[in-house]
Amino acid sequence: MNLSKKLYILSFGCQMNKLDSALVSSALIQAGFILTESVKDADVVLINTCSVREHAEQRVISHLGHLKHIKKSRPDMIVGVIGCMAQRLGDKLLEHEAVNIVCGPAQIPQLAELITKAVNEKKKELAVTENIRRSAKENEHGALEDFESAYSSEDEIIPSQAYVRIMRGCNNFCTYCIVPYVRGPEVSRPPDTILEQIRKLADSGVKQVTLLGQTVNSYKYYKDERTWSLADLLIAASQISGIEWLKFVTSYPSEEFFDDIMHAMASSPKICKYLHMPAQSGSDKILKAMNRNYTASMYLELLDRARSIVTGIAIAGDFIVGFPDETEEDFQATVDLVQKAKYRNAFIFKYSPRPGTTAEKRWLDTVPDDIKQKRNAALLDVQEKISDKLSMEFIGNVEKVLVEGLSKKPHLNSKDSDNNPQLVGCTGTDYIVVFNGPVSLAGQFANVKITRTSPLTLFGELV
Ligand code: SAH
Ligand code: SF4
Ligand code: F3S
Repeated sequence: MNLSKKLYILSFGCQMNKLDSALVSSALIQAGFILTESVKDADVVLINTCSVREHAEQRVISHLGHLKHIKKSRPDMIVGVIGCMAQRLGDKLLEHEAVNIVCGPAQIPQLAELITKAVNEKKKELAVTENIRRSAKENEHGALEDFESAYSSEDEIIPSQAYVRIMRGCNNFCTYCIVPYVRGPEVSRPPDTILEQIRKLADSGVKQVTLLGQTVNSYKYYKDERTWSLADLLIAASQISGIEWLKFVTSYPSEEFFDDIMHAMASSPKICKYLHMPAQSGSDKILKAMNRNYTASMYLELLDRARSIVTGIAIAGDFIVGFPDETEEDFQATVDLVQKAKYRNAFIFKYSPRPGTTAEKRWLDTVPDDIKQKRNAALLDVQEKISDKLSMEFIGNVEKVLVEGLSKKPHLNSKDSDNNPQLVGCTGTDYIVVFNGPVSLAGQFANVKITRTSPLTLFGELV
């Protein structure tokens, strides 16, 4: 293969996908590729895809339309679709005129090889898992483990931050969710491997590590006659020198290990006081239909416990509005829960039926889109008032911030000089902080005095 091919990677979806994109680009750079910021001069374009809602898939399809157009004048350009949509649609995606390679999440270690083959043999390449719910084949697991350990998962955008996967897949089968069908069965990775990876990242200058799993708090690994939980992992990782902040997402509302994890958080300043734990709904009827194994009151009780163990903890949640048969009363129960939960932030989604999931097979998508839209906006409104009040409490505080770099959006405070442009960073509790300072701070910690706030962003001055 020509060893200076230009690679462009575009990612959709969750942090799992961002991590996969980071691993893939790190592997392909080692194989001789050079990253480019523009599709136009790329020799290879990879699109890392998400299947969680129809909208996410539509965006990919429209992108492929765009690439088809570009390929008219650049027929040698190789287009690969990787990620969850690749696994879900497989050969159907390969039929798309623009697509040369379709590669599922478990096959990313083969990507360099697939690209070489697509270039040399000028034919389409498909690599996905045939039966995704059968436990992963030994060789597939081994290859993924080697791949994950060999390549860097440093964030491409945020210096000194990295993701580390601690679990693959999901066994929860929430009735609306496609993830178990595209990411396969739940597997916890060995603690030694995870800790070794974090050590390597710390040696290369990484300061913040985010541990990833679909239900990250149910991490469980038996070894030497003891069970490792997420709490054990966090404590062990917090002792690695160089690591200053540890975060983890996403948590499932479950009693198991919950107090241990909260106590670990309370005991170590390195474990960020941030919990992302989706509720999805506040109606017990809907929660049951969603196959979420808790009631609204159980959920709120967990939040109380989190707050009593960890002072100052920031909590975020996810919600789906317009699930089949969600009545106005059910929706009100969700509003009620949001009022009580006092989230620092909530992510709200309109229900999108996913082919092959239990909800899609069992129920019609009964709530019309305009009602979904109305409920989405109403819930956002409720949350925004709460977020606004919570963030106002930060005024006058000095917050420790991990600086990401130049702020892309022009915010309220404009840059005061070329040496002091507008920067953006993040607190341990996941607030975005905007302030002026030298670009050399990117990847460093800084203290910022908060002077102004909006619901999700804090504005301030470098101390
Ligand atoms: N594993 C994580 C997140 C999964 S996907 C968890 O369990 O918390 C991220 C979010 O997308 C979910 O929390 C849910 O709110 C939303 N989501 C998942 N499937 C969806 C669907 N079919 N329609 C709308 N939103 C969906
Ligand atoms: Fe999907 Fe539920 Fe698994 Fe989260 S826990 S990935 S929502 S099935
Ligand atoms: Fe999407 Fe796959 Fe993540 S479906 S949300 S990219 S695991």
